Amino acid sequence: MALLEIKKYPEKVLKQKTAPVIDINSSIQSLIDDMIETMYAAKGVGLAANQVGISKRLCVIDISAADEGIPLIVLINPDIIEKKGFVEEEEGCLSIPDYRAKVKRAKDVVVRALDRKGKPIEIAGGDLLARALQHEIDHLEGMLFVDRLSPIKREFFKKKFKKAMGNK
Ligand code: NI
Repeated sequence: MALLEIKKYPEKVLKQKTAPVIDINSSIQSLIDDMIETMYAAKGVGLAANQVGISKRLCVIDISAADEGIPLIVLINPDIIEKKGFVEEEEGCLSIPDYRAKVKRAKDVVVRALDRKGKPIEIAGGDLLARALQHEIDHLEGMLFVDRLSPIKREFFKKKFKKAMGNK
């Protein structure tokens, strides 16, 4: 197992839609293991493959720090098949350090995917799990949470980001 480098905004790979995983082979298995290790080391609740520079439709989620009843989730080729309700909560991202903002998302979702053995699964999640699922699947579509902010908030984020870059 190895720690992977987490790509940061505005790296291009984060903006590109990922390609479906065709063959769940041993290199995908070791990528999954490395992503899990990388997510835990960074104290994140989720990580998408393109966040470590691999443009494949695959992500890992673990919200057990906040909700211990929910185990580690590995999703291959996930899709949201149902959305219900709306809720606005603060969100952050390992690819955008030191920035958090409120994002409006569906309160409940149902996701269809394959698990790491290639078995079809369906996961119904509410609240934090629903938010994590939507955040990670957005990543796989090439979308970051700042892309979901209102135009005014997004401008504020960009200015703050440029200022932070200028100070380095
Ligand atoms: Ni993220």
